[in-house]
Amino acid sequence: MNKTEILKSKIVEAQLGGGEKRIASQHKKGKLTARERIELLMDENSFEEIGMMVSHRSKDFGMENEIYLGDGVVTGYGTINGRLTYVFSQDFTVFGGSLSETHAEKICKIMDLALKNGAPVIGLNDSGGARIQEGVVSLGGYADIFYKNTIASGVIPQLSAIMGPCAGGAVYSPALTDFILMVENTSYMFVTGPNVVKTVTHEEVSSEELGGAATHATKSGVTHFAVANEVEAIQHIKKLLSYIPQNCEEQAPVYPYELKASEIREQLNSIVPENANQPYDMREVIDGVVDENSFLEVHKDWAENIVVGFARIGGRSIGIVANQPAVLAGVLDINSSRKAGRFVRFCDCFNVPLLVLVDVPGFLPGTDQEWHGIISNGAKLLYALSEATVPKVTVITRKAYGGAYDVMNSKHIGADMNYAWPNAEIAVMGAKGAVEIIFKKEIDAAKNPEEALKEKTDAYAEKFANPYGAAARGFIDEVILPSQTREKLLKAFKMLENKVVNLPRKKHGNIPL
Ligand code: HXC
Repeated sequence: MNKTEILKSKIVEAQLGGGEKRIASQHKKGKLTARERIELLMDENSFEEIGMMVSHRSKDFGMENEIYLGDGVVTGYGTINGRLTYVFSQDFTVFGGSLSETHAEKICKIMDLALKNGAPVIGLNDSGGARIQEGVVSLGGYADIFYKNTIASGVIPQLSAIMGPCAGGAVYSPALTDFILMVENTSYMFVTGPNVVKTVTHEEVSSEELGGAATHATKSGVTHFAVANEVEAIQHIKKLLSYIPQNCEEQAPVYPYELKASEIREQLNSIVPENANQPYDMREVIDGVVDENSFLEVHKDWAENIVVGFARIGGRSIGIVANQPAVLAGVLDINSSRKAGRFVRFCDCFNVPLLVLVDVPGFLPGTDQEWHGIISNGAKLLYALSEATVPKVTVITRKAYGGAYDVMNSKHIGADMNYAWPNAEIAVMGAKGAVEIIFKKEIDAAKNPEEALKEKTDAYAEKFANPYGAAARGFIDEVILPSQTREKLLKAFKMLENKVVNLPRKKHGNIPL
């Protein structure tokens, strides 16, 4: 073979990964290969591979005779919708995608490039974990990646798609990234697998039940998205990227939008029921204020009493945090505070303005919540919103009671514009509860306590269960009709486009983790 032929044959060899048989077995499981995934993800002909000829250095257990070019991970860069993106895609056909010293080095190399050049990194994970034949060098490789994930956090977006096994300490790299997507039925993530679980806790549980996409999308909240198949996962990654900038110094892409003669949305006037205790779906409000079909919900099936996600308003990306009165009356609890707090921090890292829609009766009472730390967990959302310096706009659609009023992007914690709908109730607590405390003696002594309670409750509600007390103090900038909301938001976000806030110099804050 001449030199050109040698090169060509090496490229063919590398592209075959673990060989035809293993590729067929991968397909049989309903999975694509590492290269097929990259082809779907990157713009046509844009992918440039780095490190195709890398091989492992292991000499134990006959490994010196088992060399696969690329060593189980395809790495490189290209464009997605014309924007530079770095990618690593683990190849399950090579030692089960397991992570060797050199496999880790390849991932670290593209992370370094991504960080230096300010572009996102996407990890397509499909791996049996540490390369068992290599021992501690593989562990070192993982730690090198974890460290880089942490250093890159908040500088460039990092997305992880789980498309096969992801077990043991390997889970911590995706966990350190900004968003996780899991493919239903073919992926799982756990720190210890079903066998260890059985030995230690005597629980019998399948991989799917312990750490499949459905579990992490509904029970643990570990994954932000669960998608039906790999093609959908790739499409979802592209969509997600369309809302976010390349790095923390840039703004998200702006989509063309021409202001209509009227941005009034009459349908918003009839979403909130007359009866303040009746639920409604806050997603209808979201759909009514954002650009048509632009809402991408994050963590859709976990902590459903709060809704978070990306949307566009006038073509510009925003992050939305909204209480959901249709679930648990929209109450704040541990998980909803964690979910929203984490989302707010992502938006703030990457210059995505925030819209907070408020209909919250307060924090969820009970021993379960108190003993699991609603105090420190609720504080996460409070901290995240207080600390965020991106444009912050609030609309109170109905209830804003107690501490939850303060937490949900009140004027006091730095919101730039605060709107309320005319039926808003902004008060320390609900009228009945308030009256039972402050008029206890009078009600008990009354001839007809029930009537006295009703009388006092009505009087309290009339005085406090409205937006005008807050508006009189400037805590609410404007009381608006629901139908005017989109128009007001378009103007407010435009007005806030060049917002600059300088926080006091510090090493970093100490969020109540
Ligand atoms: C080396 C591995 C491997 C590994 C799989 N293979 N995992 N080689 N190191 N960790 C190889 C297999 O030998 C096999 O090689 C090929 O990959 C496919 O594996 P199968 O078992 O045939 O596939 P499947 O039945 O789909 O099962 C996949 C699996 C299983 C569930 C991932 O392979 C498995 O349990 N692997 C070990 C998982 C594990 O214990 N990893 C270490 C965890 S500790 P051939 O040649 O037959 O194709 C860890 C610590 C990280 O990761 C700590 C970070 C801080």
